[in-house]
Amino acid sequence: MIADIMHPGLINIIQEGAKLGDLVIGLFTDKAIAAHKRLPYLTYEQRCAVVENIKGVSRVVPQDEWSYAPNLRRLKPDFMIHGDDWQTGPDQELRLEAIEAMEEWGGKVVEIPYTKGINSSSLDKEIKAIGTTPDVRLKTLRRLIASKPVVRILEVHDGLSGLICENIEVKNGLYTDSFDGMWSSSLTDSTSKGKPDIEAVDLTTRMQDLTNILECTTKPIIYDGDTGGKPEHFAFTVRTLERNGISAVIIEDKVGLKKNSLFGTDAIQTQDSIEGFCHKIRVGKDAQVTKDFMIIARCESIIAGKSIDDAMERCLAYVEAGADGIMIHSKDKTGEDIKEFCTRFRQVHPFVPIVVVPTTYNHIREEELHEWGVNIVIYANHMLRAAYPAMVKVAESILQNHRSSDANDLCMPIKQILELIPGTK
Ligand code: SPV
Ligand code: MG
Repeated sequence: MIADIMHPGLINIIQEGAKLGDLVIGLFTDKAIAAHKRLPYLTYEQRCAVVENIKGVSRVVPQDEWSYAPNLRRLKPDFMIHGDDWQTGPDQELRLEAIEAMEEWGGKVVEIPYTKGINSSSLDKEIKAIGTTPDVRLKTLRRLIASKPVVRILEVHDGLSGLICENIEVKNGLYTDSFDGMWSSSLTDSTSKGKPDIEAVDLTTRMQDLTNILECTTKPIIYDGDTGGKPEHFAFTVRTLERNGISAVIIEDKVGLKKNSLFGTDAIQTQDSIEGFCHKIRVGKDAQVTKDFMIIARCESIIAGKSIDDAMERCLAYVEAGADGIMIHSKDKTGEDIKEFCTRFRQVHPFVPIVVVPTTYNHIREEELHEWGVNIVIYANHMLRAAYPAMVKVAESILQNHRSSDANDLCMPIKQILELIPGTK
């Protein structure tokens, strides 16, 4: 079981199972769950503490795989007990695997009729509707990094794009894919306000948008902190973000007037000194209150046309200064430079999280980025870039036809927009 939310249905399964002998619970770990659905609200340790204290439970063992078969083969139990809800839907295959494994030593699968009117999925929906707390949200990013091959982050710039990131799911065979968290991008936060991406939109203004996003979502947020500003100001930024339940800030090693990195060397930009940027990282780390908040150092060497050696030297120093992860950026279309950097960085630091933003090398899939050693992939601007051309098309259609009906197919039906936000009626 996952046992994030204890309910009578699970207690019934435990009671029925205990009648058959010593009851061992296979408790899914975060890693096993993360590949298939959202992380539970409680950590493995917390869920374990609850389950092992329930009457009838002899022992709890971690279940690291989604399939039951490996644990069954290890334990070779006389009976395997499961709710009968797995006879239909996506779990059918897991059921067949479990039956096959149990047959190897003459064990029996016992299916307990599922308690009507209550199950974990419906409770999960209700809990999601209630929301989250800053503390739970903040911690989730570190848990995701520890449990997933690649943490998938989508740019959001308002409540609506936040809701898309929160709710969208796509079935891919046995797996259901969704986004793990959100990127608050300086590029799209500025562009959506008709301003250039030069740190002209201040923290207070960006926090107003973030508040809208925080109100209607529960997933973790990574904040694009631009250069972080003066170290003394960065300390306040860290405190503000942390207080609001943001999981991480990424700051880039530039000084002076910052322009968007995707200009590359077309825009004159100055990299900070290693000492200067390390100092800023240290000030930020000293300012944070929790141990969970992350300060991720973003290296702009490759963007500035410098060597991978230079990027390596800087990133190693940034980690030494206390950075909780590094982001390596490039606007090269092949991704080869990022691959080389990741390979070299991984030789020195096997576990320090690496973040990438594959905007220009976007033919490379997450699976391959994972092989390079990447932990977090940020789709940094796609929601805004998708929205703008759609709006332009509709505006042009109205101008061409002097009415809006020709754009009907380009627009969401009125009924749908009225029902889009829960609680509208
Ligand atoms: C942003 O999204 O604002 C970023 C990533 O900083 S990039 O635009 O690629 O520089
Ligand atoms: Mg930015």
